[in-house]
Amino acid sequence: MKEKDKDIAATNRLLEVIRGKRDFESLPVDSEPPQREEAKPERSPIHEKKTRDSFGLLSKKTLGLDIGSHSVKCVQLERRGAGAYRLLSVGAREIAPEGIDLEEDPKKMTVSAIKKAIEGINLKKTAIITAIGGVSTAIRQIELPFMTERELASAIKWEARNYIPFDINDVELDYQIINTSKVSNKLDIILVSVIKDFVRYHIELLREIPVEPQIIDVNPLALVNAVMFNEEIERDEFVVLMDIGDKNTTLSIYGEECQYFVRNIMISGNDFTDDIMRGNGLSYPDAERFKKGEDSVGLIETIKPSLDNLVREVRRSLTFYENQTKIKGFSTIILTGGSALLRGLDGYLSTELGLPVEIFNPFRKINVEQTSLLAPFGNDLSKLALAVGLAIRGE
Ligand SMILES: Nc1ncnc2c1ncn2[C@@H]1O[C@H](COP(=O)(O)OP(=O)(O)OP(=O)(O)O)[C@@H](O)[C@H]1O
Ligand SMILES: [Mg+2]
Repeated sequence: MKEKDKDIAATNRLLEVIRGKRDFESLPVDSEPPQREEAKPERSPIHEKKTRDSFGLLSKKTLGLDIGSHSVKCVQLERRGAGAYRLLSVGAREIAPEGIDLEEDPKKMTVSAIKKAIEGINLKKTAIITAIGGVSTAIRQIELPFMTERELASAIKWEARNYIPFDINDVELDYQIINTSKVSNKLDIILVSVIKDFVRYHIELLREIPVEPQIIDVNPLALVNAVMFNEEIERDEFVVLMDIGDKNTTLSIYGEECQYFVRNIMISGNDFTDDIMRGNGLSYPDAERFKKGEDSVGLIETIKPSLDNLVREVRRSLTFYENQTKIKGFSTIILTGGSALLRGLDGYLSTELGLPVEIFNPFRKINVEQTSLLAPFGNDLSKLALAVGLAIRGE
């Protein structure tokens, strides 16, 4: 294997656990991740397989590490039996609190934010799970004629060409069979593609810390995991998830009996800030403060240009989905991400899209003995959804 390919081998772990089909502890597992004070290992532990028993002993602890474009968030959990988790630590750090300085190297700034976010967290015997998302990823649920897993493994690259928006040679591919029916002669598959350069960049960032991820997931699937774990979604229900971050809004549609759908919409928190800077003549830090303010007058009105674009794109996606699947009647919109907290946004989306909207609490079913861990976040917990989704991977 070429050095480059070795680096991206980690993505072959994508999708090993979705919808709780496989148990985290049944995965082939790597050695204990290096601790920060240790020198970088010559050979990546990713390639040193250990048995599940050793994993069971080594890592009941997981760290979900969400490297966003605006902030780094991490959540460390301890697994206490099936579906039971205890919160051990939380960290979050903005990458450029005063705005992007073009003189600064974005990679260095991100590395520094990761270091600060995990500062003080004991990573010993902790499996680290990160994710990649946004425009570098594409996820599709596709239907193929029935074939054996072996046949599928060799056919997938060829089939994938028809479904992914990237050049097949530029991506790391993975897939998960979610349904097979010999009778109807069909296979339902979730196909994931991630641009190789982004995977490499992501791993490089982590090597600078240094941490070695056990699994690299994709954002939308980890978000679905977080929601499924914490919410009771009826079998016949299907929900719209909107992760509204800073650069990107990830829209997913999820339900037990419906086709999984994901779309990245490039309208998000930074566009709201831009509207405020332009509309109110404010600097970036002042506009950010205004956006987060408890009683900022005319906030929704000020960001309406971007909000309307966002609503239009969401509507288009929902209509497209309904036309494609002939399914009607989404039950609810669940908001995650830092921008979910924008005052009045939930009500606005609910009115415009005609659906109930709720802001997600990713800790609803997690045992939080030390409430002081979450105290600094107040009610602003929805931005930790992805980090939790990564840390509970396997449920
Ligand atoms: N209380 C708040 N009210 C309004 N906006 C907020 C609030 N708190 C955070 N934000 C905004 O949320 C965004 C950051 O959210 P988040 O941390 O989810 O983004 P990210 O994961 O770093 O970005 P992305 O997912 O787009 O890569 C920023 O635009 C920030 O200004
Ligand atoms: Mg994000």
